[in-house]
Amino acid sequence: MRDNAGVLGTMNATVFYSNTGQSRAVAAYLAECLDYPLLSIEAAHTDYQNLVLVFPVHCQNIPDAVKDFLKSVSVDNLTVVATYGKMCCGNVLYEIQKGYQKNVVAGAYIPTKHAYIDNDGAFCDFDKLKPLVEKIQSPSPVSLPKLYKNPLADILPRLRGRLGLKIRKSEKCIACGLCSEICPLGAIKSGKTNGRCIRCLRCVEACPKKALSARSGLPLKLYLHKKKTNKVIIYV
Ligand SMILES: Cc1cc2nc3c(=O)[nH]c(=O)nc-3n(C[C@H](O)[C@H](O)[C@H](O)COP(=O)(O)O)c2cc1C
Ligand code: SF4
Ligand code: SF4
Repeated sequence: MRDNAGVLGTMNATVFYSNTGQSRAVAAYLAECLDYPLLSIEAAHTDYQNLVLVFPVHCQNIPDAVKDFLKSVSVDNLTVVATYGKMCCGNVLYEIQKGYQKNVVAGAYIPTKHAYIDNDGAFCDFDKLKPLVEKIQSPSPVSLPKLYKNPLADILPRLRGRLGLKIRKSEKCIACGLCSEICPLGAIKSGKTNGRCIRCLRCVEACPKKALSARSGLPLKLYLHKKKTNKVIIYV
């Protein structure tokens, strides 16, 4: 795997959008296997021959930052990999091929640690991704099927996220400003979130003093207790 340095104008890349590290870990594995540079979505370019895009499912939807990237990028062979927290992966890969990029050569849904569940396990079954790697190396078009998505998932996902989970700041905060710096939405100032927050937990993970914590309300707690699915789904 190569790092971000000197990749301006590169034709191949593994690009990740990741807030709690799960998608980044999957992207790093694929970048290593493929010998593609590994780039965060914020550092990515807009022209690729072969692009692997790894991102999390948010409220059964494609995160806005990923939609924006998909609108701007030009790519010959696109592989889309969605990580999800074992609840429901929605229909995001189909939605990408239908609404954003037709040139898909492979896709995968990968169950990972849910950002909102402390004792959940990270994905470690990397051997299962070998067919995906092989298909990326010998690309040909693939058609991504439609999966089940809860009809309510499209109704105000950000608002539901905000109501379901509170982010609190403790006295451990040293006002270092890191949370404001790394928030992709300008949604936190000195540990206090505003209405733009999507509860992605990037700031909670990054706070050097562990001064931020997330607490779910009862409906979200009950939802997260539901039966989990641990299925890796690969389209090649
Ligand atoms: C705002 C938000 C919404 C989420 N919605 C879902 C969901 O609908 N279904 C699911 O299975 N997991 C869901 N998750 C869990 C993430 O998809 C999972 O933890 C993912 O691997 C996190 O990736 P990251 O660490 O790269 O950010 C959600 C997580 C967050 C933060
Ligand atoms: S990153 Fe943590 S310590 Fe720094 S300002 Fe934010 S909450 Fe406070
Ligand atoms: S303030 Fe909200 S949107 Fe910003 S990093 Fe924290 S959880 Fe994510």
